[in-house]
Amino acid sequence: MGAAPTATRLGFVSTAIGIDIGGTGIKGAIVDIHTGELQTARIKKPTPEGGEPDAIVGVVVSIIAELGDVPHGTPVGVCFPAIVQQGRTMSAANVSDKWIGLSAESLFEKALDRDITFVNDADAAGYAEAQFGAAKDRKGLILLTTLGTGIGSAIIYNGVLVPNAELGHIALDGHEDYERFASYAAMERDDISWKKWAGRLQKYYAHLEKLFSPDLFIVGGGVSKHWDEFFPYLHLKTEIVPAAFRNNAGILGAAALAAHTAGIRVADEARDLIEKATTNS
Ligand code: BGC
Repeated sequence: MGAAPTATRLGFVSTAIGIDIGGTGIKGAIVDIHTGELQTARIKKPTPEGGEPDAIVGVVVSIIAELGDVPHGTPVGVCFPAIVQQGRTMSAANVSDKWIGLSAESLFEKALDRDITFVNDADAAGYAEAQFGAAKDRKGLILLTTLGTGIGSAIIYNGVLVPNAELGHIALDGHEDYERFASYAAMERDDISWKKWAGRLQKYYAHLEKLFSPDLFIVGGGVSKHWDEFFPYLHLKTEIVPAAFRNNAGILGAAALAAHTAGIRVADEARDLIEKATTNS
């Protein structure tokens, strides 16, 4: 895609657009990438019925248009509820199966006529927590889980994100895909108490603890604002804390990752220029 804009080349970027695509809603805002604060109101639209690629791309285009007169070179980060490998969506737990194997990143880039950074939604949330939130300045192994329609997960080690952990789908306790039993959507579907839900989560976190020996669990997703309803029932060796960002974590993380990627592009360009200059001298 086109060359990085002048502001980005010079490292003056201070804002980025973050878009968070979910199974039920698509949200976007402009983010101050130094403080992690939203610079605009959050725009939210329902995910089109069936979650098909063209319809979702259309909503993202309209959200970016509604964000107003954003300079063309502003980095754009988009996060999505699927495994994302080399710009392709490799799964589709709560959206149309048409996403599986699709070159999603280039689809968005064509529709938006600019580069984007495209990542898994829980990875974006994990990155936001590492940059600005509950994992900031924390060393060691951190597991973030988002409890929503599904269970998303992010692994952060000494501040570095290890992408595409799909820890929501582990088989556990007779359940082939534990997300279907223990997500927040499962709690609502089964109409169970906080205590009963916490029992399902206890088994989940105790299992992750056994597998990973993390230093910290962070619990995200909208329901984490009610952490005091279910945390008291969890008995783990590992410290467990609610996420600093709930519904905005995906937006913040996608924006921050986009700014980071734009920075890497600038550094690569600078290195090439230096190499060329040295070779020619
Ligand atoms: C998907 C993950 C996603 C999570 C939260 C899961 O069903 O497999 O990729 O991060 O839901 O949206």
